[in-house]
Amino acid sequence: MTFNPEGLKPESLMMSYGYDPFLSEGAVKPPIFMTSTFVFQSAEHGEQYFKWAYGLEQRRQDQTMGLIYSRINNPSLQILEERLALWDQADLALSFASGMAAITTSILAHVKPGDVVLYTMPVYGGTEYLLENILPKFGIESRAFPVDIEMDALDALMGEIGDRLAIVYLETPANPTNVMIDVEAVSAIAKRRSRPEKRILTFVDNTFMGPVFQNPLAQGADLNLYSATKYIGGHSDVIAGAITGPKDVVEPISVYRTIMGSMPDPFCCWLLLRSLETLKLRMEAQAQNATQVAEYLQNHPLVEQVFYPTLLEPGTRQHAIYQKQCTGSGAVVAFEIKGGKAEAFRFLNAVKLGKLAVSLGGTETLVEHPASMTHSDIPLDVQLRFGITQNLVRISVGVENADDLIRDLAQALERSVTSAADKVPAMVSFEI
Ligand SMILES: Cc1ncc(COP(=O)(O)O)c(C=O)c1O
Repeated sequence: MTFNPEGLKPESLMMSYGYDPFLSEGAVKPPIFMTSTFVFQSAEHGEQYFKWAYGLEQRRQDQTMGLIYSRINNPSLQILEERLALWDQADLALSFASGMAAITTSILAHVKPGDVVLYTMPVYGGTEYLLENILPKFGIESRAFPVDIEMDALDALMGEIGDRLAIVYLETPANPTNVMIDVEAVSAIAKRRSRPEKRILTFVDNTFMGPVFQNPLAQGADLNLYSATKYIGGHSDVIAGAITGPKDVVEPISVYRTIMGSMPDPFCCWLLLRSLETLKLRMEAQAQNATQVAEYLQNHPLVEQVFYPTLLEPGTRQHAIYQKQCTGSGAVVAFEIKGGKAEAFRFLNAVKLGKLAVSLGGTETLVEHPASMTHSDIPLDVQLRFGITQNLVRISVGVENADDLIRDLAQALERSVTSAADKVPAMVSFEI
């Protein structure tokens, strides 16, 4: 567990935690430790650090690890990781070169040939590709199940797989439909079905809500995974990943990260440190904007259906899960536009204040078409089965003024119904 004796909130510590200015000439902000390697005070020091780093000798509590080489350790990574661990109240955090690097390294560290990984659908397209196309080459089988599965059915499925089951991988809320799964219930089943010789780990991709609005570790999960490219980075200027979790789950992943070289570079970590200072402010502002956008879309005659947590109907299972495991609604709004792909594309081409781009969680609003962009590597029939329809549009809502965003969406929706959209400006006064 990270050291925070006064129990201060993470947002209070993002400007200081894990950094001693007097080790860096009094600099208020941590410098970027842009170095590949570190000087040892003596050959004996170097020998000792390697023994600890490679697990040849156990380090005592009172002994301090030294810096060796930036694939193994670097202060820019370490300060970032200590701060990331605080958000999730985790023993340890690790940073990665991308969300996919975090996911790949974490799964590989905890499976062996013959094992099975169960995973929720829909899931981010890159994750699906890893599970369905890459892991099978190494004798690891992946099986998808719908994210809104009944717990009895999931329990039965786990029982069917038996001892081969190594990881239950959840993405909640799911990208792009915002459908959620009960992390506490799944983790409890995985624990009950685990045996001393075969533990079933629950991994949760917490990119959409975490770390501010959801902490799967507190619900019993074994690992939180993030595309830090999204809210943690928050400015669409960095690709990065992160994980948080208990020591016994994170340490084996750390060894894999060292060997696979999937760590980020020091400048990337410095950018993430800058971003963590405003993480809560940004996520709260974005969620507020997204709530207004979702409500506007919900009442629009050219919109079929909106998928956003605050619109869930009380009394439904999805609503109960949301109430239980999230403290905020996030800023991804998905909606089905009336019509099909043509209408969706006309809408996307007409958006002006928002940008037509993939990714999410940044300060600017982004719009995209999951079926032909982020989730296009998922076979069409599978896409349809899990709600990724041709008229589905995903919006990542930024920190702009909500009324301005709504004006922009209004004019783009109007243009979605005209076949000569570019010749019919619906709101001539609106120019960006
Ligand atoms: C939910 C989710 N997980 C993982 C990833 C992969 O992250 P990255 O692009 O940082 O590798 C993404 C990327 O869009 C995502 O949306």
